[in-house]
Amino acid sequence: MGNLIKFTCAIVCLLIAVLSCQHDPFPAPPDTLNPGDTSCNSHNLTYNNSIKTIVDNNCINCHGGPNPQVGLSLETYNQVRDALLNTDLLLRVKNDPSVPVMPPGGKMPDCNIEKIEIWFTNSMPQ
Ligand code: HEC
Repeated sequence: MGNLIKFTCAIVCLLIAVLSCQHDPFPAPPDTLNPGDTSCNSHNLTYNNSIKTIVDNNCINCHGGPNPQVGLSLETYNQVRDALLNTDLLLRVKNDPSVPVMPPGGKMPDCNIEKIEIWFTNSMPQ
């Protein structure tokens, strides 16, 4: 009888331990793709609130200034919009095997690529 009580108690204790563990708030894993940003927030994307920063940080080194690579400047909303409409920009940033990847050093974090694609699909709001 004593053993049964011990056994029951052990089971109950185990259950309590397991159940209480489930409610422990695990810290959100850091988004290594996007330091400083805890998730890929792709809601309400506009050029000014998201896309400009991505392009500024990853493209205008080469596609900006007085002599942009291949004459493609990506410094303004109109330039980025036109490039998306008239070039293979999206395929390049997505690292499609049919074209050279942009930026040339290797594709950007997935979140950036996702944002550009969603923004494009949403008719590129400024
Ligand atoms: C290190 C310099 C460099 C960076 C950074 C860079 N590019 Fe390029 N880009 C080039 C060069 C050089 C070419 C022309 C050679 C080629 O076609 O790959 C080019 C070509 C392109 C083209 C083709 C243009 C056309 O008329 O066909 C697109 C689109 C493009 N880049 C977009 C981007 C985007 C978007 C980014 C940022 C995500 C970016 N590039 C970052 C150097 C760069």
